[in-house]
Amino acid sequence: MRRKLLLGNWKMNKLISEAKEFALASHELADLATKSNIDLGVAPTFLSLQAVKEAANKNMIVAAQNCHYLPNGAYTGEVSIPMLKELGISWCIIGHSERRTYDNETNEKCNLKIKALIENEMVPVYCVGETLAQFEAGETKKVVGEQVRNGLKDLTAEQVKNLVVAYEPVWSIGTGKNASSEIAENICGFIRDILKEMFGKVSEEIRILYGGSVKPVNVKEYLSCPNVDGALVGGASLKIDSYKELVTNIL
Ligand code: PGA
Repeated sequence: MRRKLLLGNWKMNKLISEAKEFALASHELADLATKSNIDLGVAPTFLSLQAVKEAANKNMIVAAQNCHYLPNGAYTGEVSIPMLKELGISWCIIGHSERRTYDNETNEKCNLKIKALIENEMVPVYCVGETLAQFEAGETKKVVGEQVRNGLKDLTAEQVKNLVVAYEPVWSIGTGKNASSEIAENICGFIRDILKEMFGKVSEEIRILYGGSVKPVNVKEYLSCPNVDGALVGGASLKIDSYKELVTNIL
Protein backbone atom coordinates (compact mmCIF):
# COMPACT_ATOMS: atom_id res chain seq x y z
CA MET A 1 0.00 0.00 0.00
CA ARG A 2 1.55 3.30 -1.07
CA ARG A 3 1.17 6.22 1.36
CA LYS A 4 -0.26 9.41 -0.07
CA LEU A 5 2.21 12.25 -0.47
CA LEU A 6 1.60 15.99 -0.84
CA LEU A 7 4.69 18.06 -1.52
CA GLY A 8 4.57 21.85 -1.81
CA ASN A 9 7.11 23.34 -4.19
CA TRP A 10 7.66 26.94 -3.11
CA LYS A 11 9.98 27.74 -6.03
CA MET A 12 11.56 31.23 -5.66
CA ASN A 13 8.98 32.43 -3.16
CA LYS A 14 8.97 33.43 0.53
CA LEU A 15 11.57 35.30 2.53
CA ILE A 16 13.18 33.30 5.34
CA SER A 17 10.86 35.01 7.83
CA GLU A 18 7.78 34.07 5.78
CA ALA A 19 8.94 30.49 5.35
CA LYS A 20 9.48 30.19 9.10
CA GLU A 21 6.05 31.66 9.82
CA PHE A 22 4.45 29.00 7.58
CA ALA A 23 6.46 26.26 9.29
CA LEU A 24 5.40 27.41 12.75
CA ALA A 25 1.76 27.55 11.63
CA SER A 26 1.83 24.05 10.12
CA HIS A 27 2.24 21.87 13.24
CA GLU A 28 -1.39 20.89 13.65
CA LEU A 29 -1.68 20.22 9.95
CA ALA A 30 1.39 17.99 9.95
CA ASP A 31 -0.07 16.00 12.87
CA LEU A 32 -3.41 15.63 11.10
CA ALA A 33 -1.67 14.43 7.93
CA THR A 34 0.40 11.88 9.84
CA LYS A 35 -2.66 10.55 11.65
CA SER A 36 -4.39 10.20 8.30
CA ASN A 37 -1.48 8.31 6.70
CA ILE A 38 -0.51 11.19 4.44
CA ASP A 39 3.10 12.30 4.05
CA LEU A 40 3.24 16.08 3.89
CA GLY A 41 6.14 18.26 2.87
CA VAL A 42 7.40 21.57 1.55
CA ALA A 43 10.36 22.51 -0.61
CA PRO A 44 11.61 25.98 0.37
CA THR A 45 14.53 27.81 -1.23
CA PHE A 46 18.03 26.81 -0.08
CA LEU A 47 18.18 29.90 2.13
CA SER A 48 15.04 28.95 4.07
CA LEU A 49 15.77 25.24 4.51
CA GLN A 50 17.38 25.55 7.92
CA ALA A 51 14.71 27.86 9.36
CA VAL A 52 11.89 25.63 8.09
CA LYS A 53 13.57 22.43 9.27
CA GLU A 54 14.00 23.92 12.75
CA ALA A 55 10.54 25.49 13.01
CA ALA A 56 8.42 22.72 11.49
CA ASN A 57 6.97 19.61 13.10
CA LYS A 58 9.36 16.66 12.79
CA ASN A 59 6.77 14.88 10.64
CA MET A 60 6.93 17.58 7.98
CA ILE A 61 9.16 16.59 5.07
CA VAL A 62 11.51 19.43 4.16
CA ALA A 63 12.91 19.07 0.66
CA ALA A 64 15.47 20.99 -1.36
CA GLN A 65 14.53 22.10 -4.88
CA ASN A 66 17.84 21.12 -6.46
CA CYS A 67 21.38 19.98 -5.67
CA HIS A 68 24.72 19.43 -7.34
CA TYR A 69 25.84 15.84 -7.95
CA LEU A 70 29.41 16.40 -6.68
CA PRO A 71 30.19 16.72 -2.96
CA ASN A 72 32.28 19.91 -3.32
CA GLY A 73 34.44 21.83 -5.77
CA ALA A 74 34.71 24.91 -7.94
CA TYR A 75 31.03 25.25 -8.89
CA THR A 76 30.02 28.81 -8.14
CA GLY A 77 26.45 29.19 -6.96
CA GLU A 78 25.82 25.50 -6.39
CA VAL A 79 24.81 23.56 -3.27
CA SER A 80 25.98 20.00 -2.61
CA ILE A 81 24.28 16.99 -1.05
CA PRO A 82 26.55 16.88 2.07
CA MET A 83 25.58 20.53 2.71
CA LEU A 84 21.91 19.56 2.62
CA LYS A 85 22.50 16.53 4.80
CA GLU A 86 24.22 18.65 7.43
CA LEU A 87 20.90 20.52 7.81
CA GLY A 88 19.01 17.24 8.19
CA ILE A 89 17.47 17.49 4.72
CA SER A 90 16.84 14.09 3.16
CA TRP A 91 14.56 14.89 0.22
CA CYS A 92 15.33 16.77 -3.01
CA ILE A 93 13.33 17.67 -6.13
CA ILE A 94 15.23 16.88 -9.34
CA GLY A 95 14.54 17.86 -12.95
CA HIS A 96 11.68 20.28 -12.39
CA SER A 97 10.57 21.62 -15.78
CA GLU A 98 11.58 25.16 -14.80
CA ARG A 99 15.12 23.92 -14.26
CA ARG A 100 15.00 21.93 -17.50
CA THR A 101 13.83 25.07 -19.34
CA TYR A 102 15.90 27.81 -17.72
CA ASP A 103 18.95 25.96 -16.42
CA ASN A 104 19.59 23.39 -19.09
CA GLU A 105 18.90 20.45 -16.81
CA THR A 106 19.11 17.34 -19.00
CA ASN A 107 18.03 13.76 -18.33
CA GLU A 108 21.72 12.86 -18.06
CA LYS A 109 22.38 15.52 -15.43
CA CYS A 110 19.26 14.42 -13.54
CA ASN A 111 20.62 10.86 -13.62
CA LEU A 112 23.88 11.94 -11.99
CA LYS A 113 22.00 13.85 -9.30
CA ILE A 114 19.56 11.01 -8.62
CA LYS A 115 22.43 8.52 -8.28
CA ALA A 116 24.29 10.83 -5.90
CA LEU A 117 21.18 11.39 -3.78
CA ILE A 118 20.49 7.65 -3.53
CA GLU A 119 24.11 6.96 -2.60
CA ASN A 120 23.57 9.44 0.23
CA GLU A 121 20.35 7.72 1.30
CA MET A 122 18.24 10.69 0.27
CA VAL A 123 14.89 10.65 -1.53
CA PRO A 124 14.85 12.14 -5.04
CA VAL A 125 11.54 13.48 -6.37
CA TYR A 126 12.19 13.14 -10.08
CA CYS A 127 10.03 15.41 -12.26
CA VAL A 128 9.09 14.50 -15.81
CA GLY A 129 6.60 15.97 -18.27
CA GLU A 130 6.06 17.15 -21.83
CA THR A 131 5.79 20.70 -23.19
CA LEU A 132 2.64 22.01 -24.85
CA ALA A 133 4.15 21.56 -28.34
CA GLN A 134 5.07 17.95 -27.51
CA PHE A 135 1.59 17.32 -26.06
CA GLU A 136 -0.07 18.73 -29.18
CA ALA A 137 2.18 16.66 -31.42
CA GLY A 138 1.11 13.50 -29.55
CA GLU A 139 4.64 12.96 -28.21
CA THR A 140 3.85 12.76 -24.49
CA LYS A 141 4.70 9.08 -24.05
CA LYS A 142 7.84 9.34 -26.17
CA VAL A 143 9.16 12.30 -24.14
CA VAL A 144 8.13 11.05 -20.71
CA GLY A 145 9.40 7.54 -21.54
CA GLU A 146 12.84 8.93 -22.43
CA GLN A 147 12.93 11.10 -19.30
CA VAL A 148 12.14 8.11 -17.08
CA ARG A 149 14.51 5.67 -18.81
CA ASN A 150 17.46 8.07 -19.05
CA GLY A 151 16.96 9.77 -15.70
CA LEU A 152 16.88 6.42 -13.89
CA LYS A 153 19.53 4.68 -15.99
CA ASP A 154 21.92 2.23 -14.28
CA LEU A 155 20.00 2.12 -11.01
CA THR A 156 18.92 -1.12 -9.33
CA ALA A 157 15.54 -2.16 -7.95
CA GLU A 158 16.93 -1.92 -4.41
CA GLN A 159 18.11 1.65 -5.06
CA VAL A 160 14.83 2.99 -6.45
CA LYS A 161 12.45 1.70 -3.81
CA ASN A 162 12.18 5.06 -2.01
CA LEU A 163 12.26 7.16 -5.15
CA VAL A 164 9.31 9.41 -6.01
CA VAL A 165 8.43 10.34 -9.61
CA ALA A 166 6.30 13.41 -10.38
CA TYR A 167 4.46 13.70 -13.69
CA GLU A 168 4.02 17.40 -14.44
CA PRO A 169 2.86 18.34 -17.93
CA VAL A 170 4.70 21.63 -18.54
CA TRP A 171 1.59 23.21 -20.10
CA SER A 172 -0.30 22.76 -16.84
CA ILE A 173 2.26 24.29 -14.46
CA GLY A 174 1.17 27.63 -13.06
CA THR A 175 -1.27 28.09 -15.93
CA GLY A 176 -4.52 27.06 -14.28
CA LYS A 177 -4.89 24.64 -17.24
CA ASN A 178 -4.68 21.40 -15.33
CA ALA A 179 -4.54 18.08 -17.15
CA SER A 180 -7.68 15.97 -16.79
CA SER A 181 -7.56 13.18 -14.25
CA GLU A 182 -7.81 10.74 -17.21
CA ILE A 183 -4.58 12.14 -18.66
CA ALA A 184 -2.90 12.08 -15.24
CA GLU A 185 -3.89 8.44 -14.64
CA ASN A 186 -2.96 7.39 -18.17
CA ILE A 187 0.56 8.86 -17.98
CA CYS A 188 1.20 7.90 -14.34
CA GLY A 189 0.15 4.34 -15.27
CA PHE A 190 2.47 4.47 -18.28
CA ILE A 191 5.33 5.59 -16.00
CA ARG A 192 4.61 2.69 -13.65
CA ASP A 193 4.72 0.27 -16.60
CA ILE A 194 8.19 1.57 -17.54
CA LEU A 195 9.33 1.30 -13.91
CA LYS A 196 8.08 -2.30 -13.92
CA GLU A 197 9.98 -3.06 -17.10
CA MET A 198 13.14 -1.48 -15.64
CA PHE A 199 12.94 -2.60 -12.01
CA GLY A 200 10.28 -5.31 -11.70
CA LYS A 201 8.04 -5.69 -8.68
CA VAL A 202 9.42 -2.71 -6.77
CA SER A 203 7.49 -0.51 -9.26
CA GLU A 204 4.43 -1.21 -7.10
CA GLU A 205 6.10 0.58 -4.16
CA ILE A 206 7.31 3.68 -6.01
CA ARG A 207 5.12 6.72 -5.50
CA ILE A 208 4.07 8.66 -8.58
CA LEU A 209 2.69 12.17 -8.12
CA TYR A 210 0.73 14.41 -10.46
CA GLY A 211 1.64 18.10 -10.57
CA GLY A 212 0.37 21.12 -12.46
CA SER A 213 -2.34 23.51 -11.20
CA VAL A 214 -3.39 21.17 -8.38
CA LYS A 215 -5.84 23.09 -6.18
CA PRO A 216 -8.10 22.24 -3.23
CA VAL A 217 -11.03 21.80 -5.68
CA ASN A 218 -9.35 19.19 -7.90
CA VAL A 219 -6.89 17.41 -5.57
CA LYS A 220 -9.33 14.66 -4.62
CA GLU A 221 -10.09 13.79 -8.23
CA TYR A 222 -6.39 13.25 -8.96
CA LEU A 223 -5.75 11.27 -5.83
CA SER A 224 -8.61 8.91 -6.53
CA CYS A 225 -6.78 7.68 -9.67
CA PRO A 226 -5.20 4.28 -8.93
CA ASN A 227 -1.74 5.25 -10.20
CA VAL A 228 -1.62 8.77 -8.74
CA ASP A 229 -0.20 8.57 -5.22
CA GLY A 230 -0.09 12.25 -4.42
CA ALA A 231 0.60 15.72 -5.76
CA LEU A 232 3.44 18.15 -6.27
CA VAL A 233 1.82 21.53 -5.67
CA GLY A 234 3.16 24.98 -6.51
CA GLY A 235 0.84 27.97 -6.11
CA ALA A 236 -1.69 26.29 -3.81
CA SER A 237 1.01 25.32 -1.29
CA LEU A 238 2.12 28.88 -0.58
CA LYS A 239 -0.67 29.85 1.83
CA ILE A 240 -1.22 27.76 4.93
CA ASP A 241 -5.02 27.93 4.48
CA SER A 242 -5.03 26.53 0.99
CA TYR A 243 -2.42 23.93 1.97
CA LYS A 244 -4.69 22.91 4.83
CA GLU A 245 -7.62 22.63 2.41
CA LEU A 246 -5.57 20.40 0.11
CA VAL A 247 -5.07 18.01 3.02
CA THR A 248 -8.60 18.09 4.40
CA ASN A 249 -10.04 17.57 0.91
CA ILE A 250 -8.30 14.22 0.54
CA LEU A 251 -9.10 12.83 3.99
P1 PGA B 1 1.58 24.82 -9.85
O1 PGA B 1 3.09 24.29 -9.89
O2 PGA B 1 0.84 23.97 -8.84
O3 PGA B 1 1.66 26.26 -9.44
O4 PGA B 1 1.01 24.63 -11.22
C1 PGA B 1 3.38 22.93 -9.80
C2 PGA B 1 4.86 22.68 -9.88
O5 PGA B 1 5.57 23.37 -10.62
O6 PGA B 1 5.37 21.76 -9.21
